[in-house]
Amino acid sequence: MLLKAAVTAVAAAQLAMAQELMRFGCSQLTIDRIDPLVNPGSLPSPHVHQLIGGNSLNVSMSPEDHDLPSLSTCTSCTYSEDFSNYWTANVYYKARNGSYKRVPQMTNLGLGVQAGMTVYYIRGYQASATVTAFKPGFRMLVGDPSNRDASRVPSGLCFRCEENLQQNPFGGAPCTGSDTKAFPKGTCGGGWRVTVTFPSCWDGKNTDTPDHKSHVTYPASGTFESGGACPSTHPVKIPQVMYEIMYDTRQFNNKADWPADGSQPFYWSHGDNTGYGIHGDYVFGWKGDALQKAMDGKCSGDRCAPLQRQTDAQAIACTKEQQAKEDIGTDTWLDAIPGQLTPTV
Ligand SMILES: *[C@@H]1O[C@H](CO)[C@@H](O)[C@H](O)[C@H]1NC(C)=O
Ligand SMILES: *[C@@H]1O[C@H](CO)[C@@H](O)[C@H](O)[C@H]1NC(C)=O
Repeated sequence: MLLKAAVTAVAAAQLAMAQELMRFGCSQLTIDRIDPLVNPGSLPSPHVHQLIGGNSLNVSMSPEDHDLPSLSTCTSCTYSEDFSNYWTANVYYKARNGSYKRVPQMTNLGLGVQAGMTVYYIRGYQASATVTAFKPGFRMLVGDPSNRDASRVPSGLCFRCEENLQQNPFGGAPCTGSDTKAFPKGTCGGGWRVTVTFPSCWDGKNTDTPDHKSHVTYPASGTFESGGACPSTHPVKIPQVMYEIMYDTRQFNNKADWPADGSQPFYWSHGDNTGYGIHGDYVFGWKGDALQKAMDGKCSGDRCAPLQRQTDAQAIACTKEQQAKEDIGTDTWLDAIPGQLTPTV
């Protein structure tokens, strides 16, 4: 058991060195009840999201007439040619008295932006492989907010309970080791790290499909990182997009305030306290061929010669006003999660 763990850790470290891995911070753009991918035009949309990226973000963003790079005047991402939008649901805490508060996000290790998310574009292990950047209008969804079944959570989506703010135990590929598909069950001294990994094979034709999923898939065998080949139905290797979101659960670690019946006190903003409704949305919006240059240039980290980078402070300064005006429970306790009926747990 110990030997296997050690071998796995070494293999993961070698993999991390061998692959080009862009990792950069995007500060909070807004927290809002909008979803321009799944519920375009709905104000408010069914549940609250935290969104990052270009400030052309809107309730509707039709691929035909909404050009993110030209409509945006700033981005909350440190790579300043990235006007894409990225979003996930928010997490809420339910106190023993039935009131809810939004769980804040915090900065990831080694990055200087505030809250928001950490975004990865992973080129993959095979240095020789051609990776094709997304085309304008490309968008996709991974996971399903209505899912309550562990076996239906895609393999690259998971939670890590961090023991402390140094994120110990550190390392190991995401969604391995003691990472879970369910919300962590106990208290976590360093909050949660939530990982959302998108498929990395594209059908080469459709920039979107009605379910926002069918045009992309995972490698037929192995993983993208290990150089797994794409299936013939989806033969084009695209960058593997991955989000990491750090939720600061620490202020909710008093178990005496958790529900008396022992139920999970944490909820996704869509009213799910299993965690299995984990999902992420992506709308591509890099300027020109910047992302292709980053792939061809084998960019790593959050600074890379072919790309422009703004300061962390400039990224933090890019914010957008909430469009669905409501109290989302940042500073106050709420009777219900916005848009949700009070769960009868
Ligand atoms: C957002 O949508 C509204 C209503 O359709 C429109 O008036 C506004 O110009 C849009 N903003 C951006 C930045 O696209
Ligand atoms: C509910 O519990 C929270 C946390 O203990 C507390 O801060 C809040 O004031 C309580 N709300 C009500 C309505 O009693």
